[in-house]
Amino acid sequence: MRILFIGDIFGSPGRSIVKHRLPSLVKDQRIDLIIANGENSAGGFGITPAIVEDLFELGIDVITTGNHVWDKRELIEYFENEADNPHSPARRVLRPANFPPGMPGWGLFQGTKRNTPYAVINLQGRIFMGSNDDPFRIADELLKQVQAKIILVDFHAEATSEKMAFGWYLDGRVTLVVGTHTHVPTADERVLPGGTAYITDVGMTGPYESVIGVKKETVVAKFLSNMPARFEPASGDVRLCAVVVDCDDSSGHARSIERVMLC
Ligand SMILES: [Fe+2]
Ligand SMILES: [Fe+2]
Repeated sequence: MRILFIGDIFGSPGRSIVKHRLPSLVKDQRIDLIIANGENSAGGFGITPAIVEDLFELGIDVITTGNHVWDKRELIEYFENEADNPHSPARRVLRPANFPPGMPGWGLFQGTKRNTPYAVINLQGRIFMGSNDDPFRIADELLKQVQAKIILVDFHAEATSEKMAFGWYLDGRVTLVVGTHTHVPTADERVLPGGTAYITDVGMTGPYESVIGVKKETVVAKFLSNMPARFEPASGDVRLCAVVVDCDDSSGHARSIERVMLC
């Protein structure tokens, strides 16, 4: 199976480049399964059920999120309203599994694509992030529930050390550990010795003439003044950042991971 993982989609510029570049990318790379982090897809902050539908319409199979998941109240209601329907599209929108117990939503999705079972896990780091449960031990618990060999993990975290340690911790047990959240792509993609594809951060899909997606003037002014500021998405230099992972269906081990950056 060939898997495409798209980094944090930021605002309408990010959604627009996905819409325009995804069809040819899927064709050229012979992609079977598409996962995207959508935590910033609604104006940079959160995601709405309408945007979820739009992204699924483009061919994305599963959407992951992170610390911005609750920014739009509609998403909380969406999770709550669909809680009893295991076939709802809402089930294919994940929030970090190590959030406090009892929160709305799910951190694990198990599905089938082209007759091949797969699982997606979303977890969040603890260094320079909100306080969550231990992502390492929660990952162990979740993996006990998964039958599929192909397992994709979005580790939404800030610190490179925590992300690398997490990649090594899961090496040989999952197909992919992809870092998200910093919005800055790293050049360290590789297949670890146990067969897990890894990258510290896949990067943002959105405007790069910005400070991690936000209008640069606003963020510079905030650093200078420390006054509250209204953050709005930037619009210049829009790029799509992703990784393509090729894996063996029977073992779930990755054969290759390739970084993609489209303008
Ligand atoms: Fe993000
Ligand atoms: Fe984030």
